[in-house]
Amino acid sequence: STGRLWGGRFEGGPSDAMFALSKSTQFDWRLALHDIAGSRAHAKALTAAGLLDADQAAAMDQGLAELARRVESGEFVAAESDEDVHGALERGLKEIVGDDLGGRIRAGRSRNDQIATLIRSYLREEIRLIAQDVDAVIEALAGQAEANLGAVMPGRTHLQSAQPILLSHHLLAHAWPLVRDIERLRDLDRRLSVSPYGSAALAGTSLGLSPELVAGELGFASSVPNSLDGTAARDLIAEAAYVLAQIGVDLSRLSEDVILWCTAEFGFATLSDAWSTGSSIMPQKKNPDVAELARGKAGRLIGNLTGLLATLKGLPLAYNRDLQEDKEPIFDGIDQLHVLLPAVAGMVATLTFHHDRMAEVAPRGFSLATDIADHLVREGVPFAVAHEVAGESVRYCEERDITLQDLTAEDLPRISEHLDPGVLDVLTVDGSVASRDGRGGTAPVRVAEQAVELRAVQARL
Ligand code: ARG
Repeated sequence: STGRLWGGRFEGGPSDAMFALSKSTQFDWRLALHDIAGSRAHAKALTAAGLLDADQAAAMDQGLAELARRVESGEFVAAESDEDVHGALERGLKEIVGDDLGGRIRAGRSRNDQIATLIRSYLREEIRLIAQDVDAVIEALAGQAEANLGAVMPGRTHLQSAQPILLSHHLLAHAWPLVRDIERLRDLDRRLSVSPYGSAALAGTSLGLSPELVAGELGFASSVPNSLDGTAARDLIAEAAYVLAQIGVDLSRLSEDVILWCTAEFGFATLSDAWSTGSSIMPQKKNPDVAELARGKAGRLIGNLTGLLATLKGLPLAYNRDLQEDKEPIFDGIDQLHVLLPAVAGMVATLTFHHDRMAEVAPRGFSLATDIADHLVREGVPFAVAHEVAGESVRYCEERDITLQDLTAEDLPRISEHLDPGVLDVLTVDGSVASRDGRGGTAPVRVAEQAVELRAVQARL
């Protein structure tokens, strides 16, 4: 025998370059234990269909358990001559149970339904771990929000001063997208929980095997209703790549804020030594490498998603070998997030915030102008007029090089007849923040509530 899975029809083996192109053990070996679990379930289906007798079934199951042990211990590894994980493991099984019994495992299945099932099993396991790592970042953000409750900062739109907000409000605003990412992973898991095993090459099996039995053995909720779809679909892998990319993008946006906050010009926060790096030439430097790598890896994760979608777009049904190209991008995405998420969690948890500096900057850029307008509206002035008066107040201050907080009772009638001294009470950062007390607003009472709400949602994820 050639040792390959398709000896009979061929006179010779593949050329070296063909084999090198085809080979996938260098990346699909990580699916080995899922493959063996699939084979054990498949052996049960063969037994139920009367294709293995009781002795053969017992020997097969023991042989596969032994193979799993050898894979885990590193005793059995893919050989240079193995094309993929499936072929290598069949070779390994035959070494244990002999060629006759080992040669029976492949009945009624194909590498097409095998790989489609294994990648789903693998992703179900991995996204559970990714969700835990995402939760650790949420934990770090929530912890900082709780520890810094009450600290004010400038809120920005277009990166320009807009209105003062609470730092905790801003930190929690980075936590909610990550909550949704975990929900996306949970949701995806429900769709991944459908087993393609039993679809065989494309048309299903003729040997009386039960796809439902295999699905149940492997912890799937059900088996696929269509064998073509079961073997050819990779939308679920693309969906996983999307969620990984979205997590990357969410970490990247958080990181961009951290990078800005840690500049001398902002001076809002300082990174802990353990989560930053120095420069080999500039002794004063403390660089936000974690945040920068998060930003950089987000680009890579987006590339993995778009590459996979491009691979899929022109494929006719059913299986095509192009589908082998789904593995490296999705494995890479998983691997990148496994190293990135703990680092981002550590960086966030150990940031030191400079409350005085943030409070000093909060009223700059006339960020209290909306508070003048809102005050006038409460006094019965139409908003269009109030907006105009607030704008005139800004111009008045600009001309005199003072801030809105510097305005005195004497200034007011010179700006507008509508302005009463009561407006001076709202022209403080604390007054401004406290006044935004509708649900979801930045008032301290609302932000404290929000932190509690986040904790409750987090506990249910
Ligand atoms: N390595 C292949 C993949 O990842 C497994 C299926 C191969 N099937 C085949 N007929 N060559 O898609």
